[in-house]
Amino acid sequence: MSKKFYLTTPIYYVNDEPHIGHAYTTILADVLTRQSRNSKIDTYFLTGVDEHGQKIQQAAELRGVSPQAHCDEYMQRFKDRWTTLNIQYDQFIRTTQASHKKSVTHLLQDLWDKKLIYKDEYEGWYSVAEERFLTDKEYEEGEWRDVKRLSETNYYFKMSQYQNDLIRYIHDNPEFIQPDFRKNEVLGFLNNPLGDLCISRPKSRLSWGIELPFDTDYVTYVWFDALTNYISAIGYPHDMDNFNKWWPANYHLIGKDILTTHAVYWPTMLMAAGIPLPKTIFAHGWWLMGDMKMSKSLGNIVRPLDLANKYGIDALRYFLMREMTPGQDSSFTLDIFINRYNSDLANDLGNLVNRITKLVGRFFDHKLPLNKQPSAEDEELADKALALNKLNIEAFEKLRVNHAIDNVMSLLREINRYMEAEAPWKIAKQNPERAGAVVYTATETLRLAAGELYAVMPEKISALLEILGTSSKDMLSNPRWYQWNFLADNTVLGETPGLFPRIELEQKQQPAPKPKKAQVPTVTFEEFQKIDIRVATILKVEKHPNADKLLKLQVSLGDEERQIIAGIAEFYSPDELIGKQVSIIANLKPVKIRGELSQGMILAADDGSNVAPLAPFKEMKPGAKIR
Ligand code: ME8
Ligand code: MG
Repeated sequence: MSKKFYLTTPIYYVNDEPHIGHAYTTILADVLTRQSRNSKIDTYFLTGVDEHGQKIQQAAELRGVSPQAHCDEYMQRFKDRWTTLNIQYDQFIRTTQASHKKSVTHLLQDLWDKKLIYKDEYEGWYSVAEERFLTDKEYEEGEWRDVKRLSETNYYFKMSQYQNDLIRYIHDNPEFIQPDFRKNEVLGFLNNPLGDLCISRPKSRLSWGIELPFDTDYVTYVWFDALTNYISAIGYPHDMDNFNKWWPANYHLIGKDILTTHAVYWPTMLMAAGIPLPKTIFAHGWWLMGDMKMSKSLGNIVRPLDLANKYGIDALRYFLMREMTPGQDSSFTLDIFINRYNSDLANDLGNLVNRITKLVGRFFDHKLPLNKQPSAEDEELADKALALNKLNIEAFEKLRVNHAIDNVMSLLREINRYMEAEAPWKIAKQNPERAGAVVYTATETLRLAAGELYAVMPEKISALLEILGTSSKDMLSNPRWYQWNFLADNTVLGETPGLFPRIELEQKQQPAPKPKKAQVPTVTFEEFQKIDIRVATILKVEKHPNADKLLKLQVSLGDEERQIIAGIAEFYSPDELIGKQVSIIANLKPVKIRGELSQGMILAADDGSNVAPLAPFKEMKPGAKIR
């Protein structure tokens, strides 16, 4: 049987701003699939966006555009990021595409025909923000805003009847949920009775979704829709040959936030449809900012492109892959990033390349002589180099990309030690033959190490291999690439224009200098009292028609409505602001900002990297005076 490798990422909510968390999963997928392609395995890499549901409908309404137009515009941000980050996916699926909708419709009809979906009335506490009914326990224990008692007739999938099958399956297939502690988490969850899954939403409440084929008053629940992407993308049910070629998926890569939907909802849906389960669901950990969760509402997301623009795409890819142990959480700070870059890429790798090319240039007229009489030391290093490929195939198979990189880095440090010990620059004049042998051994080892980093840093490693007189294309397509003496006698080595320039610490972003006290003039209390500061409730938010960084807000001061233009579009999306309270200067002279009237100003804290509007400690009557 020929080997194949089908790997997926979550399909990201189209509204979200792509951040380092999304980039991590997607780069991990890219690295694993590139590695698999290098091993000549037939490979398919699927990613995409999740476009239905309430949040998207609301965001589109706020912007005054149709949900479809909204999705068309926003999905492009993900596509563009992935292009810049050098992601080679095979398909970018959108849940609004016709083939996907057909597939979901087919699956719904199939379960309906099999009497695995039924209609029922339910009364309970409904959270508007969460778009779902809360369990009684959740309602009692949690603090919820926007909860109402709702009675609704809906359609339910008989998920409960698969509980025992699923538990047995998880026990019989230890690879199904990884890492193991996540598997145990799911088994723990399955210790409690599993309910049936509500798979519909009445159109009176939500219209932006895929219609139920057996009742057009409803659309389907966004997760039923989204999970189906993994099979619709490869042809279920319209191209079963292709489907059978790729399914079951080898890996669904996900973050730990969406474990239950993937490890419980999805397998029971598949069981009901009579489709085999994916081989492994792998839930990785969380990128934290320092020790805080990264989230759009906290305003602490790291935009991957900001880093990539500044330090290079491959440096970012390298960092994300090297720093996180898949499964565990990892902390992101600029310091950790810069230290990692300097020690691994600038020092261990970059300096080695410089050293080798300089030596070959200076003593051998840029031509690398073959090592015809290897010493015991040479052979020892060569053996380590030749063992690396096998070691890394194993590491990659277990998704231990960080271990694979570590193996390469250890080998590079071995080369550096070997060079120090043999010191070819000292003997080049008296014993050019031995000096040449040392440099050849070091270069071949470097070449083999570099080959193992190609999937992580495709551009930089391609440049490096060109310097070593080959190319990523020629080398990696040649099955001899991980054998010794691949570089022929007298291969001409290029010059290195500094592959990984050191990041000097003064280049680091300094925190904004604190204003000196003396520079801020004092005001008298009377002067201060002239400023009318008030609490305002945000009613409506739109983008400013003529400026990207500005938002146009309608706020309520209780007995009066105002329009205010605020420069916070980079930090907040309109839907995060609606309903929030802020403090405004109410008696600021009205002005037109880029053609739009602004009657007041929002007070906001600004620490140089973040901006946060000031809100009252608790909800106040709009218009309340701040004193
Ligand atoms: O949940 N650290 O989409 P989503 C690491 N549409 N990974 C992170 C992360 C972080 N701080 N933040 C996000 C959805 N991720 C659904 C999925 S699939 C059928 C439907 C990554 O836009 C991680 O992979 O909220 C996580 O699972 C995913 O983004 C959630 O993306
Ligand atoms: Mg999410």
